[in-house]
Amino acid sequence: MFLGTALLPYLSPIRRWSVATNAGTGQNLHSVKSAAQAMSIRSATVDDATVIGELITELGYPTTAEAMRARLKVLVADSNYVTLVAESENEVVGVIGGTTGHYYEKDGIYARLLVLSVSSRSRGSGIGAQLVAALERWASSRGAHDIIVNSAFHRTRAHAFYERLGYVGTGVRLVKTLA
Ligand SMILES: CC(C)(COP(=O)(O)OP(=O)(O)OC[C@H]1O[C@@H](n2cnc3c(N)ncnc32)[C@H](O)[C@@H]1OP(=O)(O)O)[C@@H](O)C(=O)NCCC(=O)NCCS
Repeated sequence: MFLGTALLPYLSPIRRWSVATNAGTGQNLHSVKSAAQAMSIRSATVDDATVIGELITELGYPTTAEAMRARLKVLVADSNYVTLVAESENEVVGVIGGTTGHYYEKDGIYARLLVLSVSSRSRGSGIGAQLVAALERWASSRGAHDIIVNSAFHRTRAHAFYERLGYVGTGVRLVKTLA
């Protein structure tokens, strides 16, 4: 099964990903492999803590392997969350995480893209778009109506990236740090 045509402009000819869906096992549901075996997407485990910590650090949030391991223990055990990693040549090169929740203002559930980071060495080759597509499939499989991402004002390239994937700016994020 090939991904929707909306994503194809982001793929080079060797990156026409086939999707290995297996609704019977949650672990394999998100597995995506390229025909060329160049990159695959799988569910993260706590053993990915070191490299995920590095990717979160690259995002601008310094994170030790130990801290990431503790966070992943909680996140991986929570079925409302999903954490996926992209692997190339047995090396994790990107991570995406998300969750679902219930709307107050209407029926149904939404999804949130909570974290996305591709290694600076691997950017610009479609990995980020494939991670977003995999998260969207997970969200759809949960019955989510919308998927929402917060992105800081300064991440202008990321905004362009999301807009190209169909995301539309609809509001402003306000944050207050609680003592
Ligand atoms: C944004 C990001 C996840 C995209 O992943 P990617 O694998 O590079 O994305 P793709 O190859 O699928 O798409 C490339 C597009 O991503 C966008 N992009 C954003 N930041 C980029 C970067 N530092 N390098 C390359 N492309 C970047 C551009 O729109 C680019 O399109 P272009 O090459 O025509 O300019 C990745 O660049 C990244 O990790 N950036 C830093 C962290 C970040 O901003 N995360 C999002 C937080 S909300």
